[in-house]
Amino acid sequence: MRSLIDITDFSVEELDGLLHTACDIIENPAKYADSCRRKKLATLFFEPSTRTRLSFEAAMLELGGSVIGFSQASSSSASKGESMADTAKILSCYADIMAIRHPLEGAPYVAARNTSVPVINAGDGGHCHPTQTLADLLTIYREEGRLNNLTVGCCGDLKYGRTVHSLLAALSRYENIKVVLISPEELRLPGYVKYEVLDGKGISYEETTSLEEAIPQLDVLYMTRIQRERFDDLETYEHLKDSYILTPEKMQAAKSTMRVLHPLPRVNEISVKVDADPRAAYFRQALNGKYMRMALILKLLDEAKKGVQMPEPEDVLVDRLHCDNPRCICTTEQELEHMFKCVDKERRIYRCIYCEAKKTLED
Ligand code: NCD
Repeated sequence: MRSLIDITDFSVEELDGLLHTACDIIENPAKYADSCRRKKLATLFFEPSTRTRLSFEAAMLELGGSVIGFSQASSSSASKGESMADTAKILSCYADIMAIRHPLEGAPYVAARNTSVPVINAGDGGHCHPTQTLADLLTIYREEGRLNNLTVGCCGDLKYGRTVHSLLAALSRYENIKVVLISPEELRLPGYVKYEVLDGKGISYEETTSLEEAIPQLDVLYMTRIQRERFDDLETYEHLKDSYILTPEKMQAAKSTMRVLHPLPRVNEISVKVDADPRAAYFRQALNGKYMRMALILKLLDEAKKGVQMPEPEDVLVDRLHCDNPRCICTTEQELEHMFKCVDKERRIYRCIYCEAKKTLED
């Protein structure tokens, strides 16, 4: 079934369609109150979450549907060693649609390939988080009135922050977007996002370590948390954790129309004193997430009813190349075929279909 695994699974027209539905839901909530009557959403959360899981649940309830699921791996049979594929097959017996968060990259995609209902990626390791991007897009659209002609600064943990990876993939498809990447040297944006997403779409970007220098030119400042749980060594985390703290003093140098976004949870990277600034949009952003998830559930259930299928990856090698990314689902999933898809024919470069690992095909 059609699923949402990566934000680029949807065209810009489809993203605009979701924004349009979300705005209609905001204006006419009663119209949608019974749209998902007798439909069930399963939330399979193998990693902690507040906003994403509860906004999915609230979204389904406000559409008149119901919700089943679990909020930690230890309360599912995964703790007994059940594979992602089996878990997904079982859940499709009980639910019409499922949202999955997992610490391993590609886990929701394995689920989508093994189930007969739509799957939504609610965050896979440090890889992507497409539904947070939906919340971000609606927030930028409602606050700035446009998704084109914007200078967007992303600040903090750009290496492990999956929300930034998905947001840049989405924004790079709009017109006249400029990006400022603000991070410590150690937490710079991964090469694949820089070269394939930004360079690939001709997006102009600069990298800096200074928030103060970057802030005056920004229309949107997207703050992120340093992702403690993704560090192999906690000493490095301790050294980097206070890299950026947004304060009212720093906000003085920003445009009066700039908006501050943050996927939340915040640790200390935005002073609580900034909350009263009308430019602080992060709590409104959390509310927008619910509306976009409502629009998404409606779209995927409608496509499931019409029998729309997820496209099969083309030009794929099965078990000829081996994915050795320790954060990929390939490392744990029982008998999962290692599949690589051609991304550069001339140089014979292939990418793991579950994560971003690349391999060159030797003769
Ligand atoms: C983000 C996530 O889980 O990646 N949170 C969220 O979904 N709103 C950001 C984070 O955890 O830092």
